[in-house]
Amino acid sequence: MDLKGRNFLTLKDFTPEEITYMLDLAADLKDKKKKGIPVDKYRGMNVALIFEKTSTRTRCAFEVAAHDMGMGTTYLDPTGSQIGKKESIEDTARVLGRMFDGIEYRGFGQEIVEDLAKYAGVPVWNGLTNEYHPTQMLADMLTIREHFGHLKGIKLVYMGDARYNMGNSLMIACAKLGMHFVACTSKNYFPNAELVETCQGYAKESGATITLTEDVESGTKDADVIYTDVWVSMGEPDEVWEERIRELSPYKVTKKVMENAGEKAIFLHCLPAFHDLKTKIGKQIYEKYGLTDMEVTDEVFESSQSKVFDEAENRMHTIKAVMVATLGER
Ligand code: CP
Ligand code: NVA
Repeated sequence: MDLKGRNFLTLKDFTPEEITYMLDLAADLKDKKKKGIPVDKYRGMNVALIFEKTSTRTRCAFEVAAHDMGMGTTYLDPTGSQIGKKESIEDTARVLGRMFDGIEYRGFGQEIVEDLAKYAGVPVWNGLTNEYHPTQMLADMLTIREHFGHLKGIKLVYMGDARYNMGNSLMIACAKLGMHFVACTSKNYFPNAELVETCQGYAKESGATITLTEDVESGTKDADVIYTDVWVSMGEPDEVWEERIRELSPYKVTKKVMENAGEKAIFLHCLPAFHDLKTKIGKQIYEKYGLTDMEVTDEVFESSQSKVFDEAENRMHTIKAVMVATLGER
């Protein structure tokens, strides 16, 4: 499989075989990391990491992966560069493309990362946009595969805002890989009809199914994976909290949901999560709206069914695989 020179902007652009290749590569790189086998064959190469939104996992994963590969990294934070303010994306892309071997971009509209890729002349990796979070998908799929031994036939239920980056990306990944995707949420938060149709096309090829339901009991019954994300994403205005709490509270991941799914089910969350009062923003929201929980209860988050930290670790191994694949295996 040769993905050298390819951009990594959304899983829509990749075949099931290409996605599986990146997962296999990630598993191999993870094994090498655990055994202390060096993979630093990319010395002399450099990558730019553009973050117009904040990050812990994605930034650290790119930096550690790049350093393991022997590469240099330059981090451009949400305020410290000219990007999008004094300089257009096209010009930025043409400048960075002359200096770097690959560019990661986290920010707002998907069209921005598409534009960057159009003009950079080097691989561009999407580190999260409003619409998609494809590097997260590889980590999630690797975690599920490690746990269950396979992906085909797995029932994954996404509870929460299914119209945004995580819901969209999980539906695409499941549809491509022959899994059963369920968006279990208020109908106002169902994924966009056009994307559902596109994914139905993938599903026809792979044997996947896509279900949109407001019913928690049937939606989560016998699920293998229960997945959720924050109710309000980065860049969204504070005013939306009230409506989200009202609409999405019935879709909170509780012990009852996990019991309905069954003992074998695992809980995943891309993180960061508002599951307790330990964060400043979380505490403010809990207090302002008189909440005792948000998208997931602390009990589920801390339970043995929760694999969120395996998932977070896998961000690094899978992002390394994306860079190895698109810069060319050595
Ligand atoms: N899951 C994820 O993308 O985390 P960060 O926002 O910390 O990068
Ligand atoms: N939907 C979340 C994902 C964070 C990884 C956001 O965009 O903020």
